[in-house]
Amino acid sequence: MASAEEALGVAPEVNTTAEATKTVTQQIDPYNVAGEVDETGAVKAIDYERLIENFGVQPLTQQHLDRFEKVTGKPAHRLMRRKLFFAHRDFDKILDFYEKYGSFMLYTGRGPSSGSMHLGHTVPFLFTKELQELFDVPLVIMLTDDEKYLFTRNKNDGVQKPGSALEDFLQYSHDNIKDIIALGFDPAKTFIYTDYEYLGGHFYWNTSEFESLVTFNQASGAFGWNGSTNIGLVSYGAKQCVAAFPSSYPELYGYSDYRPPQFEPTAKRRYKPLASIPTLIPCAIDQEPYFRVLRERCERMTDPHPKTSLILSQFLTALQGPGGKMSASNPNSAIFMSDTPNQIKNKINKHAFSGGRESLEEHRKLGGNPDVDVAYTYLSYFLESDDELADLAKRYRSGELLTGEMKSRCISELQGFIGEFQKRREEVTDEVMRKFTTPRKLVFGGNPNHGGKASDQVPGVFGNAGQKANDSAAEGDKAAPGGKDGRGTKGERKAAKLAEKKAEKLALRPKKEDGEGGS
Ligand code: TRP
Repeated sequence: MASAEEALGVAPEVNTTAEATKTVTQQIDPYNVAGEVDETGAVKAIDYERLIENFGVQPLTQQHLDRFEKVTGKPAHRLMRRKLFFAHRDFDKILDFYEKYGSFMLYTGRGPSSGSMHLGHTVPFLFTKELQELFDVPLVIMLTDDEKYLFTRNKNDGVQKPGSALEDFLQYSHDNIKDIIALGFDPAKTFIYTDYEYLGGHFYWNTSEFESLVTFNQASGAFGWNGSTNIGLVSYGAKQCVAAFPSSYPELYGYSDYRPPQFEPTAKRRYKPLASIPTLIPCAIDQEPYFRVLRERCERMTDPHPKTSLILSQFLTALQGPGGKMSASNPNSAIFMSDTPNQIKNKINKHAFSGGRESLEEHRKLGGNPDVDVAYTYLSYFLESDDELADLAKRYRSGELLTGEMKSRCISELQGFIGEFQKRREEVTDEVMRKFTTPRKLVFGGNPNHGGKASDQVPGVFGNAGQKANDSAAEGDKAAPGGKDGRGTKGERKAAKLAEKKAEKLALRPKKEDGEGGS
């Protein structure tokens, strides 16, 4: 039984700095996530409905979930069912393409701002992992050590503080990659890279072309850059954007990249068939401004790419409650994936904002509010059973379930999840990491029931699990699809031609405005 004290709500931390009280509207972009601050200086919950309107994205509806279930034959992920992934752009088009041609590419990423990941960071990855399993498609994960280095140095007025050298961010990338792997990704179909290690070749060619399509004014407008922002940060966005193009990663599809010391003649040009593969990006909605810039320019590339689809999540709230997100720089706002069972327990008990009443008597009489209760919110992310979750909410509202009891259910769930994670994390050695970070041909099945003809399939592009995989990196490098000269066999060249035609068709298809992509 919980004591009256445990039923007490912990007041949210009020940000009273002069700067915060000046901010009235909520601010969400890649570099700021903050709810509206009212006149008294109190931070309000993030208004996601308003974000949908401001960003011009579409809400994810029940029809999307139904369609998703029909296409994959599996129930939609709990994060979709509970609308924690709540918005999208062209999610329908990805499903259409998958039904028709059998595959697409998944892309997500992480800015390695520190060596330790927290619970909030795992959310898009857990979701992406499930999508990858359901669709059986290739996935690329970008670690933006360059972005974080440039951003941190910019924030510190050009001064490089201890622990913030370029090499430090590369190290954070490696630490984070190991955490990501421990969430359970399949090395056969997943490529993880850091910008400092991987960028070059066709990726860099795409970057350079993309940079030519973005003016300084456009970059400043989208990201808030100004005349005193360092130039690395101004151009960084192009890299995060072209990371969505399958043509940035030819090796993953069995084509050669153009990097010394191999100069394959075929690699002197980017591969057009790869430009016909669409991409879906699962991410938190703060990253959307990048991909708005991307979508407006996909069709202007030399080899036009279909407009990238997005599926967007809310933020895992800080322990202090709605209005902020977990932040690695505030240890009391977040539960880290390296926390001990005791730390998890103490953080939830001491810091998790409660939707319970002031006293036990009041709570019994009036009931609590699960909607603002942080322990309940975390359960809604991590508890699989819809029935149990609904039951917890019901009993909380009626006053039967106390804050202390809600917290203890949350603690046991998180201790279980993080404990399992830590066991797997111990096994992720450098060697395991290198399996994921070596560019190589990925193996994936795609949609076994897609509607296209066999001739629609470009070998190694639209589902290739039936083919022999090139597991070693060395083999992968040589492996332009078939044929010793890297030009492919006759059949493959014919198929590639067809895919090129398809790419052209895709690029020419009637353009809908972003605003009307809905269901
Ligand atoms: N900029 C992101 C961050 O700071 C990292 C990132 C790169 C990313 N590419 C992405 C996130 C694609 C989501 C999807 O976290």
